[in-house]
Amino acid sequence: MEREQVVNIRLDESTDEVVILDQSLLPGAERYLRLGGAEEMREAIASLRVRGAPAIGIFAAYAVYALSSRSRAGSYGEFYSQFQKNKAYLGSSRPTAVNLGKMLDRMDALVRGMASREIPEIVGAMRAEAKAIHGEDIDMCKAISEYGLTLVRQGDGILTHCNAGQLATSRYGTGLGPILLARERGIELRVYCDETRPLLQGARLTAYELLGAGVDTTLICDNMASIVMREGKIDACFVGCDRVARNGDAANKIGTSGVAILAKHYGIPFYVFCPSSTIDPDCATGEDIVIELRAPEEIREMFFAKPTAPEGVKCYNPAFDVTDNSLITAIVTEKGICRAPYAESFGRLGLLR
Ligand code: MRU
Repeated sequence: MEREQVVNIRLDESTDEVVILDQSLLPGAERYLRLGGAEEMREAIASLRVRGAPAIGIFAAYAVYALSSRSRAGSYGEFYSQFQKNKAYLGSSRPTAVNLGKMLDRMDALVRGMASREIPEIVGAMRAEAKAIHGEDIDMCKAISEYGLTLVRQGDGILTHCNAGQLATSRYGTGLGPILLARERGIELRVYCDETRPLLQGARLTAYELLGAGVDTTLICDNMASIVMREGKIDACFVGCDRVARNGDAANKIGTSGVAILAKHYGIPFYVFCPSSTIDPDCATGEDIVIELRAPEEIREMFFAKPTAPEGVKCYNPAFDVTDNSLITAIVTEKGICRAPYAESFGRLGLLR
């Protein structure tokens, strides 16, 4: 049976708490958390209870609003310095996804522009801005999904890596958006999800979302991407992204660049799905993107009944990698489908702001 769409982030306006579906527990448990304090909010991002570049941006906007709504500051100066402290604290939780810093900067610009107003008025405007950010993401995902749908045909096999669905955004998602929209329109696709070691976003989240939507879904280990491509099961690869440089180099979950290299070898198109909120005009190339390094325990022992590696073995655990723009067939945005040279294509669509 198909499942109702889950709501991953919402604001409880009666308590000014941010309510999230704890993605770290999926698919075993659908548990919602109510967050009102800065420490638990930062922890929720760092521990991937809320995750996916657009979702982190939406969450951060609600979070700084919710924290500001609790302020007892007696002056604008005091209010703004509390805001800046919260912004820096939340902003330091994860480095790679640009949406986090961008949405915090957007909230900052709003607060700075209201220096002469009363604090309750500023807080009200912050709530409206956070909701606008959320609403814009829904619109962007829908538009991206429509463009993506033009890239598939009935019966196509799609390989995806990590999770770029509605859990990672607001509705539909980016990389999974066209697949979910295709399903709604009666176009049947066959989707292969890479399990996505070490945190298993593909196995835990993408498979959960796609199965819930009634999509023909097959889970594979990350090292099986080559064989399914070689066997002719894959017509296209669809992935999301965390930060895209001006030249089209795209950071996404660790392992994405390997999938792109395989796709090139087998002559399979490799598409990156990217809302404009994920393009970073301040990054010239992928070399400028900071890659998050995470704890060794994620590789050594997480998700296993017993540790799987010798105690104390060194681990290298980069959470993302950068796919060179030369491996990307097209970058699908809410304003249209961009092709190389990407800086020109982004510029034409007004995406470099
Ligand atoms: O570490 P995660 O789970 O936050 O990584 C998420 C991804 O890599 C997604 O593919 C990306 O954020 C795009 S989500 C639309």
